[in-house]
Amino acid sequence: MTINFKDKVAIVTGAGGGLGRAYALELAKRGAKVVVNDLGGSRDGTGHSDAALKVVEEIKAAGGEAMSNGGSVTEYEQMVEMVAKAKEAWGGVHILINNAGILRDKSFTKMEMADWKLVVDVHLNGSANCTKAVWDLMREQNYGRILMTASSTGLYGNFGQTNYGAAKLGLAGFTKSLYLEGAKYNVKCNTLAPIAATRMTEDILPPAAFAMFDPVNVVPAALFLVSEDAPANVIMGAGAGFFHTANVTMTQGALLEGDDLSPEGVAANFAKISDRTGEIVPQSGGEQSMQAMKLLQAKAG
Ligand code: NAI
Repeated sequence: MTINFKDKVAIVTGAGGGLGRAYALELAKRGAKVVVNDLGGSRDGTGHSDAALKVVEEIKAAGGEAMSNGGSVTEYEQMVEMVAKAKEAWGGVHILINNAGILRDKSFTKMEMADWKLVVDVHLNGSANCTKAVWDLMREQNYGRILMTASSTGLYGNFGQTNYGAAKLGLAGFTKSLYLEGAKYNVKCNTLAPIAATRMTEDILPPAAFAMFDPVNVVPAALFLVSEDAPANVIMGAGAGFFHTANVTMTQGALLEGDDLSPEGVAANFAKISDRTGEIVPQSGGEQSMQAMKLLQAKAG
């Protein structure tokens, strides 16, 4: 089955280069009308350029339809205006890929709060701004596909990226509640953790790996996750042709009582509490208390 985006309007933030550009090019090639958003700054978020315009020219040269947007995802009003322009020109917005990002890597010891705040503002608040700007429209349309961009740092950690990791896991958490709110309106929300050779990773990935991790190899995951038949609430990792899912799991746990219902009891039972046999993958937060109730009921017989 071919996945196409005919009659779909897509917004890709941070699409002036790297992964966003690759998503925008392929979406347009497969029929989507694409808003290429990018403020065109440097890797640390400073400066401006016409990066978005260049990608629009590439799309048009290949016969596709696109419009550029130089707004910053950190400015809610600019994102509202971007959505309004897309709707006016093309009648709706069906796909949002929250991809824009910056880095301000430093150990937490050396990190200024300004570096913390800007990274969280671009990734986490920026994705919320764009999502909020399209949300009512997607609900009214009874159609929406939203993709957040997380990272292995957010899911698993990385030295020197506490600000980035907090924002990226925040995005996975954002998606986990958002997908529940969107389900009734056919708005599907997912999270992608890419690995790609871009300016963001040029001094992180070794040169040999850099060639293998072409951003185009992440495109299949991103496009699947915003397609008509996309799943929801999936965290998918992708890079170099390797694809996996990641899950926030819960152990079966243990019910403690009497003297064990104490810090010493938690210490004594830690092996049982953290035993991963029969691990659960909850689909909503309520499943945590349901597990407690299940064990309490089993005990009560
Ligand atoms: P990139 O630096 O090539 O792309 C990020 C784009 O976002 C840039 O074009 C930049 O101008 C734009 N941008 C930054 N601040 C913006 C703002 N306020 N408003 C609008 N646009 C803004 O880097 P790359 O690698 O393509 O990153 C794309 C996304 O993937 C980011 O969210 C990044 O954190 C994430 N990611 C990338 C990984 C990789 O291996 N390259 C690994 C994990 C996550």
